[in-house]
Amino acid sequence: MSEVVLKMEQIVKEFPGVRALDNVNFEARAGEVLALVGENGAGKSTLMKVLGGVWPYPSYQGDIFIKGENRRFYTTREAEESGVAIIYQELNLIPELSVAENIFLDRQPTNRLGAIDWRKLNSDTQTLLDELGIRDFKPADQVKHLTVGKQQMVEIAKALSKRARILVLDEPTSALTDREVAELFRIIRKLKQDGVCMCYISHKMEEIKQIADRVVVLRDGQTIGDVTAITDITLDQIIARMVGRDIKDMFPAPARQRGEKILEVRNLEVDHPDLAGEKRVRKASFSAYRGEILGIAGLMGAGRTELVSAIFGACPDATHGEVLVAGNRIDIRSPADAIDHGIALLTEDRKAFGLFLGQSIAFNTTIASLPTISSRSIGVIDAARERALVEKYVAQLGVKTHDIDSIVGTLSGGNQQKVILGRWLNAGPKIFILDEPTRGIDIGAKVEIYKLLDRLAGEGVAIVMISSELPEVLGMSDRILVMREGAIVAEFTRKQATKEAIMEYATGARRTGQ
Ligand SMILES: Nc1ncnc2c1ncn2[C@@H]1O[C@H](COP(=O)(O)OP(=O)(O)OP(=O)(O)O)[C@@H](O)[C@H]1O
Ligand SMILES: [Mg+2]
Repeated sequence: MSEVVLKMEQIVKEFPGVRALDNVNFEARAGEVLALVGENGAGKSTLMKVLGGVWPYPSYQGDIFIKGENRRFYTTREAEESGVAIIYQELNLIPELSVAENIFLDRQPTNRLGAIDWRKLNSDTQTLLDELGIRDFKPADQVKHLTVGKQQMVEIAKALSKRARILVLDEPTSALTDREVAELFRIIRKLKQDGVCMCYISHKMEEIKQIADRVVVLRDGQTIGDVTAITDITLDQIIARMVGRDIKDMFPAPARQRGEKILEVRNLEVDHPDLAGEKRVRKASFSAYRGEILGIAGLMGAGRTELVSAIFGACPDATHGEVLVAGNRIDIRSPADAIDHGIALLTEDRKAFGLFLGQSIAFNTTIASLPTISSRSIGVIDAARERALVEKYVAQLGVKTHDIDSIVGTLSGGNQQKVILGRWLNAGPKIFILDEPTRGIDIGAKVEIYKLLDRLAGEGVAIVMISSELPEVLGMSDRILVMREGAIVAEFTRKQATKEAIMEYATGARRTGQ
């Protein structure tokens, strides 16, 4: 077996009211991919933040050994200089800067006069992108114009540019397309051969089976069982270690009754923000019904997010076409208008559009409630009732916190997602659009969310769910639309839909009418 390059001994990390890491022992070897798995809030990101100096010595207890040497990092820079690079779960790029500037932030090549050597900066970046096989964007592109998936790739390029010996990937694929994931795995395998030690955090179990050499499970800040070779353990056994119980039936049985048509979209088009004459969404027409779950499949960048954001009033001046709610044509000029008409949208990018990270769970849950935000609001908020509601959603969704007044920014990534979900549930929508609702959510909570969506549909809500996880789309939807290059290219009933058929349309291998 190869050399142990990283050893963490008896790590304890406490936050007010939470012991996030409770005597964790952890070791990883050169040239291996060690998967770190566990439910939301188990402590995975915290452990890696201790390693990366985000939680500097001595804000934790225990020892970190790198290549046998006891190290104490007082800053993230010190960790980086020791060969530790971390790709964090939440994107940390600067939207206004270019891809190249983001990758080489603080390390930009300069010329003799001390000015930035743009040519070298861009060519170094191009080399990196080539190495990664990225052709979808250029070094000079502004990050803010990239989709979440592409931004994630910039993060990966950035970490690789530091030639890390220990590379931590915290849910790196949560926003990547299948092609990008394949690309990433190719790079990971290459780095493995170069002897890089990788710690890989993910909630996607199939992915872990595919890429990891060994796996270790964290639950409530403690490791459960030993580090185990991936070939010596089944997925069910891993999941059982994670949640402390067996999970059967992921998806609720589809016994749904379709009600009346509640949403109709006719010939919706969205202009491209930069390219005049180009469209992000082209002539999209579809309907959603009460009591039904409508899935929208497609590759990243197919225009799904643009379609639903346009319906939600995100870009009224760039949006053309008609939206009807309950048969009436409505004019949505802003998200507040959409909410007024009973439409809710759970966005894919929780950091940019979703959460007020500096505010409490209670604040974040109640901010979008229809009566408080609506222009017709009578403005009376019953504080006790509101608290009871927040408590209800926290319990229902299993948000891991000791207090609904906790600041959302202190929750684990998956738990932040649950808070946004709770907010929209609290708003009581008629039409609930969810863009990648289970991204970053652990398997136990996923099942809870599936049950919840099923129940909402049963109560007569029309659910529209974008998801890049095909098993989820197939398992949950009554009908499935497939988008490609801004257009709806296929529609399937639950019975007709197969993974292969959806992929054929999503990739353009098959086209309607051919
Ligand atoms: N800055 C912070 N302040 C207070 N508590 C925190 C902070 N960061 C994390 N915690 C708490 O520590 C625990 C572990 O969180 P962590 O982010 O490590 O979970 P995780 O395993 O990465 O979960 P996820 O899969 O949801 O990302 C949680 O209870 C979380 O609320
Ligand atoms: Mg995390």
